[in-house]
Amino acid sequence: MEAQYFRANTMSKIKTAYFCQNCGTQSPKWVGKCPSCGEWNSFVEEIVQKSDAGISKLSASSKGSKPKPINELESNRQPRLQVPDGELNRVLGGGLVQGSLILFGGEPGIGKSTLMLQVALKYSAENILYVSGEESEEQIHMRAERLGLSNPQCMVLMETSLENIILHAEQLLPRILIVDSIQTLSTTTIESSPGSVSQVRECASRLLRFAKESGTIVFLIGHITKEGTLAGPKVLEHMVDTVLQFEGDRNHIYRLLRSSKNRFGSTHEIGIYEMQGAGLREVANPSEILIHTQTDDLSGSAVAATMEGARPLLVEIQALVSTAVYGTPQRSTTGFDTRRLNMLLAVLEKKCGFRLGMSDVFLNIAGGIRLEDPAMDMAVISAILSSNSEIAVTKHVCFAGEVGLSGEIRPVARIDQRINEAAKLGFKQIYVSSFNKGLNALSKEIEVIAVGRVGELFEKLFG
Ligand code: TYD
Ligand code: MG
Repeated sequence: MEAQYFRANTMSKIKTAYFCQNCGTQSPKWVGKCPSCGEWNSFVEEIVQKSDAGISKLSASSKGSKPKPINELESNRQPRLQVPDGELNRVLGGGLVQGSLILFGGEPGIGKSTLMLQVALKYSAENILYVSGEESEEQIHMRAERLGLSNPQCMVLMETSLENIILHAEQLLPRILIVDSIQTLSTTTIESSPGSVSQVRECASRLLRFAKESGTIVFLIGHITKEGTLAGPKVLEHMVDTVLQFEGDRNHIYRLLRSSKNRFGSTHEIGIYEMQGAGLREVANPSEILIHTQTDDLSGSAVAATMEGARPLLVEIQALVSTAVYGTPQRSTTGFDTRRLNMLLAVLEKKCGFRLGMSDVFLNIAGGIRLEDPAMDMAVISAILSSNSEIAVTKHVCFAGEVGLSGEIRPVARIDQRINEAAKLGFKQIYVSSFNKGLNALSKEIEVIAVGRVGELFEKLFG
């Protein structure tokens, strides 16, 4: 009788719920298909059991705050912390903000651990705690040796228990805490396995509280699934202050650092790194590496003057147009949106009379990077037309213009910066839209050619 009573009592304390392991949707009962993301068989029962200590702490702190007029809010804005990595500072909006929680995602093997360890080893002004739940002491030691860096201020901890990590962090009070990775952590207050949605969420919210209370900057490394979403950590995106993504093709040496969310700055900035034998090197002048330095003029290649955030970037676009051998022509792109390519091909076909419907079209952005600036359109169609007609675009020419559905060349933002960058890199001519305003007052070193329609562009280029 007594035993039964005890059982019923503890049972009532354990609350369980079902969580989609793909997107984190919660459901009171098991369902076969997730109503939110459509994934099949992804619901797993997890115990939701809040620790009492956590609850009382939270309610105690919320008791202290009262509504107050907005102009009486304190603004003790701290200067941002500059780490010895210019690209990271830039992407974060000009440095790291005290007490911020940053999620750093990327595919396995892309170089997340390398970048974080590199930053930790280069920053010697204050304590840094690097927690690894994935690698052994030896592995980290070897990596540090490979990077050729050492820093007595950088402490390393092999641990996966959240409670122990917080304990050590509270003792050390490091300026920066790096957790590699959030999917390996587990807390005793939740009984599901590490990496499950409720574990990941609970661990992150405890680390968030630690960051806010201590002012420590916390980086959480998170792995991304094949589909490009942060597995599990998807649920973290609205909890953290900043979401950073590390992208690139593993077979290429260039890596792009972007932010998809940033409470303390813009999300338009990118950082570019080159993966070398001894770590990641910051690429200060990316245009030079993204333009292939060929000596001859080759058909099917054109240079686009793009912008990523406030940064002009000249990239080479390569196209190959060939007769389709099989019935259905193929359209394949690397680093460029395939739907946009289809749209541009339709414009060329319908508005300008080029017969590309029966041809295979392949498009490639050099360097294995992915870009989305619509100003690349003009370079894309120039590369396609050049490959189709087998006439090369002279290598001192570049392009900045968007193509509209009726075949018009549309103006693009920050045209002066693009033109200046092109001039700086030694280009002799740049094609822009004739609808761009104030073109006359621009650089004298480069000839600016304004075109209004795709047909006009073709005539000026190859006519
Ligand atoms: P890693 O940082 O372990 O990736 P992640 O933490 O995102 O899973 O990166 C590992 C890759 O980087 C691996 O393929 C080896 C390569 N690498 C270099 O090319 N140079 C280096 O100096 C280091 C440390 C790694
Ligand atoms: Mg790693």
